[in-house]
Amino acid sequence: MSSARALGTRIAGCGSYAPSRVVTNADIEGMVDTTDAWITARTGIRQRRVAMNEKTSEVASKAARVALSDAGVEPGDIDLVVTGTVTPDMVFPSTSCFVQAALGLRPGIPAFDVSAACSGFLYALDVADKYVRGGAAKKALVIGADVFSRIVDWKDRSTCVLFGDGAGAVVVAATRGEGGILSTGVHSDGRKWEMLYAPGVACSNPFEGKKHHPNPHTPYLKMKGNETFKVAVRTMLSAVEEVLEANGLKPGDISLLIPHQANIRIMGAIQERLGLSDGQVFSNIDRYGNTSAASIPIALDEAVRSGRIKKGDIVVFVAFGGGLTWASAAIRW
Ligand code: ACO
Repeated sequence: MSSARALGTRIAGCGSYAPSRVVTNADIEGMVDTTDAWITARTGIRQRRVAMNEKTSEVASKAARVALSDAGVEPGDIDLVVTGTVTPDMVFPSTSCFVQAALGLRPGIPAFDVSAACSGFLYALDVADKYVRGGAAKKALVIGADVFSRIVDWKDRSTCVLFGDGAGAVVVAATRGEGGILSTGVHSDGRKWEMLYAPGVACSNPFEGKKHHPNPHTPYLKMKGNETFKVAVRTMLSAVEEVLEANGLKPGDISLLIPHQANIRIMGAIQERLGLSDGQVFSNIDRYGNTSAASIPIALDEAVRSGRIKKGDIVVFVAFGGGLTWASAAIRW
């Protein structure tokens, strides 16, 4: 009788990158009617990074290079690239194709993006986990990258103060050892898309006139902040509970919860409802703001490098974003 374990997956390495240009709350005070005190108290954000002449695929490639080196994996060993992003360089090619070319990954491997806004990294992780678990790939590069500074309305104080740019990446590898990615869960509710969206470029052709343009006024991100706040708390809470229950775990078993960094008060509400201590919840929102799909992998990279995650730890990721989308993952490190 064979004693071989079923094929599992693990995070073999991680990396992150944020543009060097720091934009503080004081800098934004000079642009819209806001104050450092309001932004800090209502969001927890003190500064964010902003891309200067850097495209999403470039920040993504920088994070991915670090992740490959951290995993001790050669570019030629990667057989899948999935990037979570809603700010690709172009409508097509995908960000993943640009990364494939920039890093010299093997031609012929599948490379594509997933669109799930701030849940993008966890959606990408879910896809890679299933490819690797199913045997269709052995080593996958999973990236979360966004450059929201190009899609926020810098005249709208209710949104422009919230976001920052950056990228994070992990290598997901097949394993027959203990631990690794225990499970992932991804969800959406398209009925509520108007709570949080970015129309983007004009989408009408000369035959249909202007009436099919999704938003004739502005291409920028729009958000109903209050409503989004409440749904974010509710859905992220249920996503954590789902992934714990799926693995027979309790909140007390969590070594580190890495929530999407959208607002310190959202994270605080989730922490309180789960009864977690400060040491169980990771936050770096004060330094990066909301970097959308990049937020969890940047936080993971910082947590690993600062020694907050040790072998055997139970790490839980949870995210919420436009779509609406929400997702979670549990890992035994
Ligand atoms: N500076 C000063 N005042 C402001 C600012 C600002 N930057 N922004 C809004 N205000 C004002 C409002 O105009 C309002 O004034 P009024 O009372 O005179 O009308 C007052 O502050 C309160 O506004 P609220 O919107 O009620 O403030 P709230 O406490 O809800 O905080 C925030 C707003 C920070 C946006 C919060 O609602 C939030 O974080 N929402 C969730 C964001 C989120 O999770 N997004 C999901 C992920 S993003 C993605 O997927 C792309």
